[in-house]
Amino acid sequence: EWTPGHVVEELVESIREQVGEDRVLCALSGGVDSSVAAALVQRAVGDQLTCVFVDHGLLREGEAEQVEKDFVEATGVDLVVVDAQERFLNALAGVTDPETKRKIIGEQFIRVFEQAARDVVGSHADEEHPVKWLVQGTLYPDVVESGGGEGAANIKSHHNVGGLPDDLQFKLIEPLRTLFKDEVRQVGLELGVPEVIVWRQPFPGPGLGIRIIGAVDAERLAILRRADAIAREELTRAGLDRDIWQCPVVLLADVRSVGVQGDFRTYGHPVVLRPVASEDAMTADWARVPYDVLAQISTRITNEVPEVNRVVLDVTSKPPGTIEWE
Ligand code: XMP
Repeated sequence: EWTPGHVVEELVESIREQVGEDRVLCALSGGVDSSVAAALVQRAVGDQLTCVFVDHGLLREGEAEQVEKDFVEATGVDLVVVDAQERFLNALAGVTDPETKRKIIGEQFIRVFEQAARDVVGSHADEEHPVKWLVQGTLYPDVVESGGGEGAANIKSHHNVGGLPDDLQFKLIEPLRTLFKDEVRQVGLELGVPEVIVWRQPFPGPGLGIRIIGAVDAERLAILRRADAIAREELTRAGLDRDIWQCPVVLLADVRSVGVQGDFRTYGHPVVLRPVASEDAMTADWARVPYDVLAQISTRITNEVPEVNRVVLDVTSKPPGTIEWE
């Protein structure tokens, strides 16, 4: 009989067997998969595990704290946080091309993680049990899909932590590779992973960096973060989190339009709401979010985020539109 309890027991047992007394490293993104994978390995081998969380400064409001505080509190995991915000902002300065942004973010991510990994490995170098393993949150659908390869049409380059240099020589543990997403969530709940993380909607690795149309800087990130937090809050309040797949909020940073607020003319930026319904993100339909919820989001964003004076709704399916704008 499939119960999360049994699955946890079994997986914990097999991780213990696999790892023995070696040390283990895990890159934590704040997403469901890496969090549940880390929590499982932590349950299995305790402080033989070290997690590394790279804060690239492109996260949404509250996300870094959820990993740094809530996740650590719930799991007792040993966590190294690398604050790389400045480094990412510098590397992204002035860059507007979407694929270039993705490439820069992916490359910086690997470099920062690599350095952190070396530090962790180094700090245990003269111990009896070196760092030998790297945890990956690979799910069953990923396993099946990767049989097919990337294919000719690489629409957008998806970055995941993977390509680490050979001289680090990790062996991979993929404790979730027999599970589907909903099973991973049940396992996460069983392990006490915070619900905000377990029920998180998909969020792209390059984060808000690909939701600012135009160059990324700290000020624009702050604007988008506030607008995004309001949209998420209202969608949650309306009980729509499980009905919509995700709702990117996109800042058109190089566009301005005229508005009026009180007795004053404004000249601010639009944000786009992109709520979608989907089964697997391969195709998607724009989600029919009730008008009163949209109205509430719009009112709050234009009231509370002074730089934004217009909220627009994306009513494009995928295809032809992708879910993200970049
Ligand atoms: P698109 O925009 O291609 O997005 O329709 C499909 C799904 O993938 C997410 N996405 C990413 N996830 N790294 C990720 O881990 C990425 O680089 C990336 N780009 C897009 C997107 O949020 C949607 O769920």
